[in-house]
Amino acid sequence: MENTTAEKISSITYKTSRLILADSLAWLAEEFPAKVTFSSSFSIEDQVIAHAVLSNNLSISIFTLDTGRLFAETYSVWNTTNEKYNAGIKAYYPNTSHLEDFVNKKGPNSFYESVDNRKQCCYIRKVEPLKRALAGNEIWVTGLRAEHSPERKSLRIVEWDEGNKIIKFNPLLLWTSEEVRDYINEHDVPYNSLHDRGFVSIGCAPCTRAIKAGEDFRAGRWWWEDASKKECGLHTAN
Ligand code: ADX
Ligand code: SF4
Repeated sequence: MENTTAEKISSITYKTSRLILADSLAWLAEEFPAKVTFSSSFSIEDQVIAHAVLSNNLSISIFTLDTGRLFAETYSVWNTTNEKYNAGIKAYYPNTSHLEDFVNKKGPNSFYESVDNRKQCCYIRKVEPLKRALAGNEIWVTGLRAEHSPERKSLRIVEWDEGNKIIKFNPLLLWTSEEVRDYINEHDVPYNSLHDRGFVSIGCAPCTRAIKAGEDFRAGRWWWEDASKKECGLHTAN
């Protein structure tokens, strides 16, 4: 293939992926009124989707699962996003008595002691609140990307989530990290400042670290655990 053809293909891919993002979200919002919801962890990917939703005034609700253990920088980008777009992102919290029982029995940092404790913590702080957040919706929009992990390479852009009985829409599935960055820069979208300090995949503060050159995308999540166990349960139903 000639160089100019390759350049043309790359520029068409770049442009259409952006048009497809805004248009597909707009179409979904019209087709499924008040039934489309977007989950944001304020990751750089999620900020791309938030910008597409909020700058186009799409009627897609946005929620976040506040585990109570997020980074100060995450709360900061949440606040900036609300201010910039007048966003009104809805927060869901863990069930108080379940969390009190768990922490009082096992201590505040028991997730370092066993995979069971870690999964229980993720269940109480994320998975159960997610179920409440998704209730009544038909479409769940996420910022999942294939580049995140080998498991995520087998996801589809549109798929059925059997565990949550909902259709999942992963519009950035095939976007590269560079394309995400370019979009953020192009549209001056606020993003988590940790992304400039070696953090790529960002979850709760005690369970996330920066990665070093050459490490996998999710190496900084639950880094003390075996790689095969590194999911919190939000996306394991598939
Ligand atoms: S996780 O399963 O390891 O925690 P990850 O951080 O890669 O997930 O994020 C993937 C997608 O899951 C995000 O784009 C977002 O849609 C959703 N997500 C993850 N964490 C949260 C959260 N705390 N609140 C809302 N959505 C979240
Ligand atoms: Fe708990 Fe860590 Fe899971 Fe956050 S990521 S819910 S702190 S185990």
